[in-house]
Amino acid sequence: MIQIAVLGYGTVGSGVVEVINTNHESINKKAGEEINIKYVLDLREFPGDPVEDVLVHDYETIINDPEVQIIVEVMGGVEPAYTFTKRALEAGKCVCTSNKELVARHGLELLEIAREKDINYLFEASCGGGIPIIRPLNSSLTADEIDEISGILNGTTNYILTKMAEENADFEDVLKEAQEKGYAERNPEADVEGYDACRKIAILSSLAFGCHVDYEDIYTEGITKITVEDVKYAKGIGMSIKLLATSKREDGKFYAMVSPVLVGQDSPLYSVNGVFNAIFIHGNVLGDAMFYGSGAGKLPTASAVVGDVVDCAKHLHRNIMMSWSSKRLELMDVKDVEH
Ligand code: HSE
Repeated sequence: MIQIAVLGYGTVGSGVVEVINTNHESINKKAGEEINIKYVLDLREFPGDPVEDVLVHDYETIINDPEVQIIVEVMGGVEPAYTFTKRALEAGKCVCTSNKELVARHGLELLEIAREKDINYLFEASCGGGIPIIRPLNSSLTADEIDEISGILNGTTNYILTKMAEENADFEDVLKEAQEKGYAERNPEADVEGYDACRKIAILSSLAFGCHVDYEDIYTEGITKITVEDVKYAKGIGMSIKLLATSKREDGKFYAMVSPVLVGQDSPLYSVNGVFNAIFIHGNVLGDAMFYGSGAGKLPTASAVVGDVVDCAKHLHRNIMMSWSSKRLELMDVKDVEH
């Protein structure tokens, strides 16, 4: 039996428990062993909830338990997630996460610790919600020199822009709806100002280009200045406004940016609506590939996290993730990019 601990019983954490309970049999079969949730860490109480019996409030219980082999970090934010993750990896426990903020900031260091310990730090759910994208970049696409990754990487803003276009809905009202549906971040500024998409494109670019892309180097503009009039105007000329995250190599130079753009009907991104994400990749031998699916929300995100748990269970003492290079990728100023 493989004992796991879940850090954080919010939207994604409760989704992870639900996915493991719902698909218990097939998950155990695929993992090759029974996966058991030994602890759920949260500061809150959940009277009457099925996790009540395994709820703990102190991380020391988890880190000091030698039976716990896999830790699921779905707390979000940098601290205490960073300290907890680092301690877990140093103690030889695998970590799976959906925490893009942490991966964008400290992924390089955490991957390196995992590599040294020959264990895994997996973060499929950090980009694109339930869409498999980290794994393909780490395996099936490694034969390619990737020169472009671009797409819609934030479900909340795509949901807002879609509702504004289809229903003339008010920005604040739809944002509230996205929060209620569990799409938005705890602080939705990260979604609407583009920071969340920026962290995701930094992670994907670091993996794809084999150099460290610092999210702070990426030009980032969100959707807060977009009005219903803008969205209507775009619709009137047969286009739609999408928050696009792009990272591209041109003439040997790289640039990356997040900003709202007008997308025409000839683009496959035009019909990516609601909470859906789509990620386009161009490789020198592959050509084009596109990944599409549920980009946010409790169960899609939990599906990706639990997939990582199964992979960790299958490779408990073998590192399967490429670590990304510490060489920082110099990005050119987007003002110098010809559009
Ligand atoms: N707030 C994020 C989004 C959650 O809307 O895309 C998934 O990463």
